[in-house]
Amino acid sequence: MRLQGKRVIITGSSTGIGAAVAKRFLEEGAKVAVWGRNPDNAYTIARELPELANVVAVDVADAPAVDRAFAESLAALGGLDVLICNAGISIRRNFVDIDREEFDRVMKVNVHGVFYVSQLAARHMLQQDTGGAILMTASTSGVTAYRYYADYNASKGALIAMMRTMAIELAPKIRVNAVNPGYTMTPMQEGEYSPEMLARVNGIIPMKRHARPEEMASLYVYLASDEAAYASGAVFTLDGAESIASGAAYL
Ligand SMILES: NC(=O)c1ccc[n+]([C@@H]2O[C@H](COP(=O)([O-])OP(=O)(O)OC[C@H]3O[C@@H](n4cnc5c(N)ncnc54)[C@H](O)[C@@H]3O)[C@@H](O)[C@H]2O)c1
Repeated sequence: MRLQGKRVIITGSSTGIGAAVAKRFLEEGAKVAVWGRNPDNAYTIARELPELANVVAVDVADAPAVDRAFAESLAALGGLDVLICNAGISIRRNFVDIDREEFDRVMKVNVHGVFYVSQLAARHMLQQDTGGAILMTASTSGVTAYRYYADYNASKGALIAMMRTMAIELAPKIRVNAVNPGYTMTPMQEGEYSPEMLARVNGIIPMKRHARPEEMASLYVYLASDEAAYASGAVFTLDGAESIASGAAYL
């Protein structure tokens, strides 16, 4: 019960890493609001986890919709102690073939969306004596280069830069950190793999496998808890040594 009573919004949490984090946070005693883009997935997780305080289908790239969703979750939770900006998309394409619309969409979801939600959360948390914590799911893509993901790499690099600036400006009331997952087996990854590609990726990861979403969730528990009271402005990488392994960037 390391998160007893903490009121938490997690974006992009109807599937994948976010859903694992939501489930684990409930087990640790948190009050959780799940945000997802897809109404069907939102409905499914609401049924699977009836203890959730609030489930909202919202596009984080739509600022007015974010305002409405934030007000709804705040009312349902009775306040906010932790925000996790986890929603994100990726499109695998050669740099020269990326459509301008695709580039804009990746930036809109992965950067603008985080800005919209975390600014609302920061304004709220600054008003309360207890402050709060904001966590962002960035990626090893934000610090190294992966072929075919110029837009995604750029978006995650931008996220890390924003996180660092927020950590300086919002301290000491609000702690702000980023998690850089390595390859994690979620719908996002599954959608992109053929069996051959999966075997090839596992082969270049020193741990020889993808991470499980539950392994990511453990790190979020620590960072959201009072045990992490001195952690701010940092990037926490959990990638089975993949991003430092030579050759990883040449897939
Ligand atoms: N899986 C990996 O290997 C990996 C590695 C590094 C970083 N990440 C990051 O982890 C996060 C979660 O990804 P995942 O792997 O669990 O994949 P996922 O596709 O299961 O989860 C992405 C979530 O974001 C939500 N989302 C997408 N667009 C949205 C929008 N416009 N508005 C609101 N929600 C939206 C989806 O509904 C979904 O719940 C993403 O930010 C991703 O970039 C994943």
